[in-house]
Amino acid sequence: MSDSTVNMSFNGNLSHVKETIFSKMSALAQAHQAINLSQGFPDFNPDPELLERVQHYHQKGPHQYAPMPGDLGFRKRLVELSEKTFDHVYRVESEICITAGATQALGTAIATAIREGDEVIVFSPAYDSYFPMIELYGGTPITIKLQHPNYSVDWEQVKRLLSHRTKMIIVNSPHNPSGKLWSESDFLKLQELVAGSKILILADEVYEHLVFDPQEKRSVRQFPELRNRSFVVGSLGKTAHVTGWKIGYCMAPEYLMKEFKKVHQYQVFSINHPLQKALADYLPQLDLDGLSQLFKTKHDWLYQNLLERTRLKPLKSDGTYFMLVDYSEISDAPELEFAERLTTEYGVATIPLSPFYRDPVDHKVLRFCFAKNNETLEEGVSRLTKL
Ligand SMILES: Cc1ncc(COP(=O)(O)O)c(C=O)c1O
Repeated sequence: MSDSTVNMSFNGNLSHVKETIFSKMSALAQAHQAINLSQGFPDFNPDPELLERVQHYHQKGPHQYAPMPGDLGFRKRLVELSEKTFDHVYRVESEICITAGATQALGTAIATAIREGDEVIVFSPAYDSYFPMIELYGGTPITIKLQHPNYSVDWEQVKRLLSHRTKMIIVNSPHNPSGKLWSESDFLKLQELVAGSKILILADEVYEHLVFDPQEKRSVRQFPELRNRSFVVGSLGKTAHVTGWKIGYCMAPEYLMKEFKKVHQYQVFSINHPLQKALADYLPQLDLDGLSQLFKTKHDWLYQNLLERTRLKPLKSDGTYFMLVDYSEISDAPELEFAERLTTEYGVATIPLSPFYRDPVDHKVLRFCFAKNNETLEEGVSRLTKL
């Protein structure tokens, strides 16, 4: 073997991808001891009863691999919860798979469906994993901008952009980052547009239970033409305040789930077993109305306090734990620059909206996460009064 050193260089398939805005703002928040309203996670603990179940299974086991599609009891509980909320029954044996968070479910659904040359309709602003995953499998994202400031869909534009290459449409309602919920008429319009086609839907519904008015919960699962072609993705991270556990799921009709599981078994195979058992015990006692109420109270408090005590202009959400905030009356600075200034000079970290788009967009809007203790929110607003 020669002892000459080879100058290695390497271009990975995603070498164009940069550090995410979430890592950047969280690091900045830490460096400046800022109140962190940037990344989407609660700063409070999950229910002690859930933690007791985790302790129980960590002592007793199982400590070995879970079944490839997920623990049977856990799948049953998730299917029951889905039926209770959206009145459609998925088959436990063949129509659900537990995943390593919703992020894996999204990636696996895209890997299952997308090939070179396929087009995928993505509404932006969009959750950051969609674009790179579509491109990794040779697909082309076709972006449609939601209409600021209501973040509504221009259905005429959707109709114009559909083509014989359209393989998939990604729907995210309740929506991160706007907090908006699609109306029944939006789902019906989508249903009308895809009827008779082979277009698939990837429904990112991770905030399915974080809707402030529980009567308004809506899902592709309620629309037969949609659910028959949908991968529905959920996240226990959001529903049970355990984002760090990275447990999610995908539900889909059998003909799609069969293919999804083939990819899942080689990407991941199976998911943390004791945590699935603990969540299975816990789900039947989950207080869904309490969950809606918790986040509605935090949303309303933040909205009112930003409005009355600061010069920022909050926009109302229907669900999720995010709120958009307009700063155009305070500054002309671009979003990233303004967000950095808020963190370094005023000690409040938020997320600029522009990185959720592919093309440059600057509406002078930031995303605030209000899944925080009341003291954290109070301290954040009190710092922002100095703006
Ligand atoms: C819209 C959306 N989809 C997917 C995810 C990922 O969920 P998980 O943490 O379960 O991977 C998030 C998390 O922030 C999200 O906001």
